[in-house]
Amino acid sequence: MSTSKQRAQLLLTQMTLEEKIGQMVQFGRIKPKEKDLIRQGLVGSFLNHRNLTLVNEIQRIAVEESRLGIPLLIGSDIIHGYVSTFPIPLAEACSWNLELIEASAKHAMVEAASDGVRWNFFPMVDIARDPRWGRIAEGAGEDPYYGSEVAKARVRGVQSLNADGYPQAAACAKHYLAYGWSEGGRDYNSVDLSEHVLRTTVLPPFQACVDAGVMTFMSSFNDVMAVPASGNPFTLRTLLKGEMKFDGFVVSDWESVEELIGHTTAADQKEAARIGLLSGVDMDMHSGVYLDHFKTLVSENPALEALIDDAVLRILTVKYELGLFEKPFVDPQLRENVILNPETVDMTLKVARESIVMLKNDGTLPLNRTQKIALIGPFGNDPHTPIGCWGAAGHHENTITVTKAFDDAQLNYTFIKGCDALDPSKDGFEAALAAAQASDVIVFTAGEHNLMSGENNNRAFLDLPGVQQELFDALKATGKPIITLLFTGRPLTIGSVIKGSRAVLCVWHLGLSSGTAITETLLGINNPSGKLVTTFPKTVGQIPLYYNHKNTGRPNFRRYLDCDETPLFPFGYGLSYSSFFYDKLTLKSSTISASESLEVSVDITNTSDRDGQEIVQVYYRDLVAQVTRPVKELCAFKKIHLNAKSTQTVTFTIDAQRFGYFTANFRFIVDPGAFALWVGPSSEDGLTTEFTIR
Ligand code: NOJ
Repeated sequence: MSTSKQRAQLLLTQMTLEEKIGQMVQFGRIKPKEKDLIRQGLVGSFLNHRNLTLVNEIQRIAVEESRLGIPLLIGSDIIHGYVSTFPIPLAEACSWNLELIEASAKHAMVEAASDGVRWNFFPMVDIARDPRWGRIAEGAGEDPYYGSEVAKARVRGVQSLNADGYPQAAACAKHYLAYGWSEGGRDYNSVDLSEHVLRTTVLPPFQACVDAGVMTFMSSFNDVMAVPASGNPFTLRTLLKGEMKFDGFVVSDWESVEELIGHTTAADQKEAARIGLLSGVDMDMHSGVYLDHFKTLVSENPALEALIDDAVLRILTVKYELGLFEKPFVDPQLRENVILNPETVDMTLKVARESIVMLKNDGTLPLNRTQKIALIGPFGNDPHTPIGCWGAAGHHENTITVTKAFDDAQLNYTFIKGCDALDPSKDGFEAALAAAQASDVIVFTAGEHNLMSGENNNRAFLDLPGVQQELFDALKATGKPIITLLFTGRPLTIGSVIKGSRAVLCVWHLGLSSGTAITETLLGINNPSGKLVTTFPKTVGQIPLYYNHKNTGRPNFRRYLDCDETPLFPFGYGLSYSSFFYDKLTLKSSTISASESLEVSVDITNTSDRDGQEIVQVYYRDLVAQVTRPVKELCAFKKIHLNAKSTQTVTFTIDAQRFGYFTANFRFIVDPGAFALWVGPSSEDGLTTEFTIR
């Protein structure tokens, strides 16, 4: 048993029932009433405060004025940077650079911890196949294997050690469970999926977080298979704390235990509190139902105290592990040293560069510095949009906009906004068209404002909002070449923009260094290397559309009368200024046993005269199995740097277990038989071979 757990156990023996309940209570507001609760030991955690003076003050009350002096745990959502804003998680995931992803989580946490945040409600590891859902922006896309790798990197980054040798913060795997499966992409909506999909697609990133040592989990708002996730003993106790061996603690999402009443599985607050406890939700976020009802519930049924003890033990263990008992306060000086530290700001640029995905280029890019640019569209000088959803303490004054970066690069340009992202006014069209006529090339910024994605920012249409499409069409009619910069938190159905543009860069919501990374990419100083981790559909009617779908019994039948079923851009897709040639796909042995590994190698040549980076992807397919299996599944990848005109042999060692699956009654097996394998630059391209598991 860990020392932290032993210490927690000892402390538990000294606690009254009220004090134990207090550890399971978290509040958002800090008013005199809550300060008094701290004194009485009746609250153990607060969330979403960015004021170090206040945090140190309430911590002092907890440590010095409460009977047992148990420190508070301060939580917050640091989703992609604190003051130094990084690209939104979906964008960052397109870098396929796990080292950078880990580093960004670490840098973000170092900044936030200097304001007393020692618990981060991050990472969101919900697999998402529906871009209407606004929270797709917060995750790592649609693939369970890649999502698991990113999840581990993010947990490692958050829980990296601080100067005192304690984790910077506790990470929190969310939203448990299947929150990304909300029907119709409507946030908070019901989820119904098979246990097979749950185990095969939804759970792997959560298990990856447990394996990476994540200290906390968050139970989600939605119901899963008719039981709310924050009142679900099967998913929380049987699966998470049992099968998956999670030994940290579970916090509810905001008031989601009380919302069992809304779900109509609890008649009142008291019943909601009882179900929350029985289900294994260890801490109640903000609703207060644990504080108000646990005492009565225990007096009615003393056996419940054992469940409270288990929850408190878990919470106290995390507090010990974080070193909060040794170091409850944060030195205000630390803030001065770490906030907007040059190394962190530089890291925002590195991540932004690699998050950009080039969707199209007919050779118009890179731009030539002498070209006269008409910069048109709503986002050219918008410092808010690059901050994205969940901006934490990010401030628009720190954002490097495209206009700022164009100025810094001394480009020959005119900026005319032309229209707003949402506003229907076309008053700016005339000036935009005049600027376009006078230019050599149009750089058109289009897409979504930062607050159009994220929590409860769902959309029924995924085209360009407002009059942006009309402006694009008018610009197109000028005959000038158009380069489109797509600012977005989700895939958009923008086929006509892609068709009408000479080049398109998906620049997402890229954070503080947005303009610099974009300008460097336009000029060819940065060679884009990002690849999509989420499918771009052609139209909303195709959703859900994802690369790892099933074959069906009639794979060659046309699915729609009025649209094909291919995506606008597939998973894994992205262009570069370099060109890569794949050759000599070789298996060391084409037959392996279930306890061996498959050794794969491929030669990649950079045939261009530009150094570049390529994301080499390996996919497989189980050709015949006991249950239906996806037509293709990612099983390995590597991001490599390749100098111009050079060749590298890239090798992969893939454990045969990776080719296993769950049978219809959830037994994990590695099935003997034939498999197809692809190695290529995207999920729709590559060299192919076959192998056998004997
Ligand atoms: C609600 C969101 O669903 C969750 O992701 C977040 O961590 C909490 N609120 C706390 O802000």
